[in-house]
Amino acid sequence: MPAFSSSAPGKAILLGEHAVVYGQPAVAIPVFQVEARATVSPLIQAAPGQIWIDAPGVKLQSEIKNLAPDHPIRRLVTLIASELNIRQFPSFQLKINSSIPPAAGLGSGAAISVAVIRAVSAFAGSPLGDDRVSALAFEIEKIHHGNPSGIDNTVIAYAQPLYYVRGQPFELLIVNHPLTFIIADCGLQSPTSVIVNQVRSAWMKNPESYEKRFAQIGTISQYGRRNIEEGNLENLGNLMNQNHEILRDIQVSCPEIDRMVSAALSAGAFGAKVSGAGRGGNMITLVSPDKINLVSDALQKAGAVRTIITHLLNSPG
Ligand code: PMV
Repeated sequence: MPAFSSSAPGKAILLGEHAVVYGQPAVAIPVFQVEARATVSPLIQAAPGQIWIDAPGVKLQSEIKNLAPDHPIRRLVTLIASELNIRQFPSFQLKINSSIPPAAGLGSGAAISVAVIRAVSAFAGSPLGDDRVSALAFEIEKIHHGNPSGIDNTVIAYAQPLYYVRGQPFELLIVNHPLTFIIADCGLQSPTSVIVNQVRSAWMKNPESYEKRFAQIGTISQYGRRNIEEGNLENLGNLMNQNHEILRDIQVSCPEIDRMVSAALSAGAFGAKVSGAGRGGNMITLVSPDKINLVSDALQKAGAVRTIITHLLNSPG
């Protein structure tokens, strides 16, 4: 039996984070410069049903039955078995590697789930399609995040830029004009569930004012989508800036991210904002290709511990 290996990209939210949890639209893009990879190899000599997990990045090396029942990887393998109607897998080793920084808004948890679902289902002889991969990954997102909107598992499973509204079929973005983004990490880890819960508490205390801001973010996502499709970079940059101001207002930015946002704008970026849950992690900035070096340098001087340059262009259909 051969080994099966699958990878999944990271992701960045371009517009609409947090508001998307409350039913507003958001725009997200895959980030192929980072990835999670899962490799399943048969354990020929092991007793039936043995599953070994080897995830050196998080120093996890264990037989699956020794993990807590609600451990995301154990839960994931159980979900895949029930999806495929398999009572017992042939013995295997599951190796997980990821270059996606955790708790940084780049979809690390969802990408690991997607890679594992693809590799284990292929090993079992029934590779799952993108819709089922996304649905199973969503179940694990609930363990990681409590109340996820579903945007991370969707953009990562389909690996396409998309316009997403919770509970509705997503729409692929048509990107006929190339877009260049720099994604910069401020180096602070920020667990999504904590920030999402803080926003929820604030929303419960002051629902009207939060609903108003979420609706404004939703409108920004709608206009943003149109400007992406029309290739209007100046308008898109302005919308990113407006989105950032609202995210600051609801207190999901932080001085480290704000410093990088100002640095990018001073160096000539079209727009810049927090990306993901915020209070740490990454920001994203839209630049013209001739400004990549200038803006990257400015971001590094402003404290970025890592920058990713990513280009977006597709013509689906
Ligand atoms: O996983 P992160 O940090 O990119 O956050 C996901 C975006 C949120 O809107 C904050 C949460 C969600 O489930 O959509």
